[in-house]
Amino acid sequence: MCGILGILSSQSVSENLLPEKLLEGLSRLEYRGYDSAGIATVHDSKIDRRRAAGKLKNLKALVNDNPLKGTIGIGHTRWATHGAANITNAHPHSSPDVAVVHNGIIENFSVLKQSLQAKGVTFESETDTEVVVHLIADFLKNKLSPLQAVQQTLQQLQGAFALVILFRDYPSLMIATRRGSPLVVGCHQDELFVASDALALVGWVRQLCYLDEGDVAVLEKTETGLSTHLYNSDAQPVERIWRPSQLSAAAVTKADYSHFMLKEIFEQPAVLSDSIQSLIGVEGTAIDLPDLKLDPGSISQVFIIACGTSYYAGLVAKYWFEKYFQVPTQVEIASEFRYRQPCLDKKALYLFLSQSGETIDTLAALSLVKQNNCKTLAIVNVPESSIARQSDQVFHTLAGPEIGVASTKAFTAQLVNLLGLGLYLKGDHNQDLCQELRLLPRLVSEVLNDQSTYQHVSLKLAQAQHALYLGRGLQYPIALEGALKLKELSYIHAEGYAAGELKHGPIALIDGQMPVVVLAPYDEWFEKTLSNMQEVLARNAQVIILTDEIGAEHVHRQVTNKSTLEMIVLPRVASLTSPFVYTVAVQLLAYYAALHKGTDIDQPRNLAKSVTVE
Ligand code: M6R
Repeated sequence: MCGILGILSSQSVSENLLPEKLLEGLSRLEYRGYDSAGIATVHDSKIDRRRAAGKLKNLKALVNDNPLKGTIGIGHTRWATHGAANITNAHPHSSPDVAVVHNGIIENFSVLKQSLQAKGVTFESETDTEVVVHLIADFLKNKLSPLQAVQQTLQQLQGAFALVILFRDYPSLMIATRRGSPLVVGCHQDELFVASDALALVGWVRQLCYLDEGDVAVLEKTETGLSTHLYNSDAQPVERIWRPSQLSAAAVTKADYSHFMLKEIFEQPAVLSDSIQSLIGVEGTAIDLPDLKLDPGSISQVFIIACGTSYYAGLVAKYWFEKYFQVPTQVEIASEFRYRQPCLDKKALYLFLSQSGETIDTLAALSLVKQNNCKTLAIVNVPESSIARQSDQVFHTLAGPEIGVASTKAFTAQLVNLLGLGLYLKGDHNQDLCQELRLLPRLVSEVLNDQSTYQHVSLKLAQAQHALYLGRGLQYPIALEGALKLKELSYIHAEGYAAGELKHGPIALIDGQMPVVVLAPYDEWFEKTLSNMQEVLARNAQVIILTDEIGAEHVHRQVTNKSTLEMIVLPRVASLTSPFVYTVAVQLLAYYAALHKGTDIDQPRNLAKSVTVE
């Protein structure tokens, strides 16, 4: 969703450079999803800003035509919530005295706006953010210091947000604060930075400091140099830990790939290999999770709580945990979990899955579970994220930064951790499974070797308005994930169904135009899924079956009407680990369908990488 960046440079940095740097930093935040952007600096005793609707290139063109200068500045990529994605609603929002960039939502903005309007304040935008500008400006008029004005304003705000603020009359001062929305401060010899996401700062900083909930950071330039002072939510000075930045520049480049998504799909063999090695070692024959402090014998059941693709990883885990490890498991959509006031089980393990670690609904569910003193464990991909910091224990996925909005390698990395966790809970030293796991990087590489098949077959999807994905057992969640990938990337309406559900309604949709992707490894569910495929073929559907060599032989023998059938033959894989191989295949289908359609693959319309508002 929205991205924030603030830069405060020392005098030795040219004032022409900072706007360029703000734009470069914002380009690293583009992956979060946005629909307008803007920057502001304080220069020559005034706040100067440039804002543009649409992609960052529009803002860059504007700044190019009408440059701005300064050694202090803020920037923002906005994902519209309150008010259309136009210039007026784009950030930074500003009065003559104060400029603000904001992530999240000010829930009580309407009441605050009315009281400010009653005092004669006029508003130019429809946003919730603008109340923050006018509240701070009002406190400044009443002779409060900038820090006091921000602290007083914070007392009036409800919601989850991060803010960075500039002051016309204090051209060497920037204040940043967070409540429920992440912010990180970074420092380098000649510059201080604040950002909603450490990826914006890759290569620029050596040390990072993640703000705690409610913290206020005062970034200042004085005659003696640059300084950062932190205050907690009670306005008391605090120290927070500074850590060396771990991110490499390679993580934020596409290398030779046309899209981040394709790069991330191709990174999966390496991600799987690293993840599996961290579970079982190079030669190991048992799962080893020394950092997890859980007593499997005392856990009555597992609740997995997540959104989107992470939720589908949870559904895969339900099959693994119940069928193979006999661990009772419920999977919950995080955005609904708290609304039904769940009966919480003190003996259960509550497992939160999130790539970003910032998904607001997952975070809210975690907070509900924690308030009730239940055991929590998070599987996240961003180590310093809010979910990682707030759950009792964390089991990190090793996918590395994922930039493409559509999740790919983070999903398969979540699956490895879930499988490892299932084995750990079962207390099972399953040598065969360790062997199967070790094969996965090679099997996934084999899938990736065959791009032309996906390019060709995905045309069938690209030409359609709608598509169905069918799977049984472990392939059912992968059918859901395949359909989600297709709709996210290509905007084709796609639904995943348990193959057995077909006759209970969806079959009414089948006609000669409908593509149906059937996920059918030759396993215990194969024959039944094949029957469902026959039913849609009999109704002339455009079928794409993903199967293995043995499955392909059965298809050749049993299916007579093949005129509307395409087959993709995948490597033979054990049933338990088949989700990995079939996931990569549906990712490629979605990728190439989107490529045929010419959509924005890395930043699909309306989507955000981390969903930080409800
Ligand atoms: O960061 P999270 O895993 O918590 O995100 C959950 C969903 O928003 C995310 O998986 C979303 O569905 C992706 N766009 C899927 O590609």
